[in-house]
Amino acid sequence: MKELQIITTLAVYSNCEELPEEAKVLMQKAVEAREKAYAPYSRFKVGAALQLSNGAVVSGNNQENAAFPSGLCAERVAIYSAGANYPEAMVTVMAITATAFDKVVSTPVPPCGACRQAIAEYENKQHQNIVIYFMGETGAVYKANSLKDILPLVFDGSLM
Ligand code: THU
Repeated sequence: MKELQIITTLAVYSNCEELPEEAKVLMQKAVEAREKAYAPYSRFKVGAALQLSNGAVVSGNNQENAAFPSGLCAERVAIYSAGANYPEAMVTVMAITATAFDKVVSTPVPPCGACRQAIAEYENKQHQNIVIYFMGETGAVYKANSLKDILPLVFDGSLM
């Protein structure tokens, strides 16, 4: 028996102001998207903004439904919108932010497991990593250089 050790390294910025200019601008777009989220049930608003290789920025936010599972996370709203509208473009950077109605979210909020799987599909499709920045409403911003850094042992089309 051998052991497989999985090590992930993320960059940690103490706040949004510390981000490189391009990421700061993209995070601001994610904040704008977050504020337009439709989240009456969870009272937790998430925004995501994607930088595309063709220069376009596509954003999304969580869209909830009275039949709870019918809602969709911000990251998937954004990345499916990018795939639908710019099928030839690559997603190069993703910025994510979340806020709650009833408390201040100061811990970085990563994409949920289902969203990680959706993002993995696009990394595999485009054969290029997606840089992911994620934060709460205030406080630290984490940066992953690839989806694979936050979803090790990913299952994607390259295995099939
Ligand atoms: N949510 C997202 O938009 N992204 C995630 O990665 C995690 C959760 C949304 C779904 C739901 O509308 C609310 O946050 C609470 O789970």
